Amino acid sequence: MKKFVQSLINGVAIALIASMVFTAFPATSNAALVQLPPLPYDYAALAPSIDAETMQLHHDKHHATYVTNLNAALEKYPALQKQSVESLLQNLDQIPEDVRKTIQNNGGGHVNHSMFWTIMKPDGGGKPTGTLATAIQSTFGSYEAFQEKFNQAGANQFGSGWVWLVMNPQKQLQIISTANQDNPLMQGLYPVMGNDVWEHAYYLTYRNRRADYLKSWWNVVNWAEIEKRFVSSASY
Ligand SMILES: [Fe+2]
Repeated sequence: MKKFVQSLINGVAIALIASMVFTAFPATSNAALVQLPPLPYDYAALAPSIDAETMQLHHDKHHATYVTNLNAALEKYPALQKQSVESLLQNLDQIPEDVRKTIQNNGGGHVNHSMFWTIMKPDGGGKPTGTLATAIQSTFGSYEAFQEKFNQAGANQFGSGWVWLVMNPQKQLQIISTANQDNPLMQGLYPVMGNDVWEHAYYLTYRNRRADYLKSWWNVVNWAEIEKRFVSSASY
């Protein structure tokens, strides 16, 4: 019995160390263990900014498909499974060519959406506080100017993609947009926050009115989570 307990403790210790090694921030999960993270709230929790059916399809179908396709690609290359998905995205040029695009699209889709669910919450909104508020103020002039620039970049992204607030290597905040499921990590930028401007994110409620979706989205933003990501970006 004593031996069994000891081996159990050893097993837990090894698992803990492994997770510390392979999930260096900003890892969402070990590539070998990619799983669809559960939504941290009900499908209807973000209504009326985002309707329940959109949330259900977006999470249970779109995100789930990225996870399935990513795992199918990783199954061919066990060595890649030892890295976090974020690390794979940062080093796409080192990925075998036959699965590179699949991992770019579906690994990006997984990481992007895993962040997306956490930076929203019911009864969100308001304004950032603390060091993030100060950084936004000094970079963009005001919170309102930042919001406007972010919305503009989201509206101007042609076709499917994302709009981001990122930290660049010079430790300056920047607003960028990316196509498809590309993540800023692919360009050496740290994603502090991002909004999904694929039609699947808003079309059921907003139809072609992306600008209205972008405007309403601020009501469900989870600033506490974004501030955590901003603090982490300092050591990236
Ligand atoms: Fe999406």
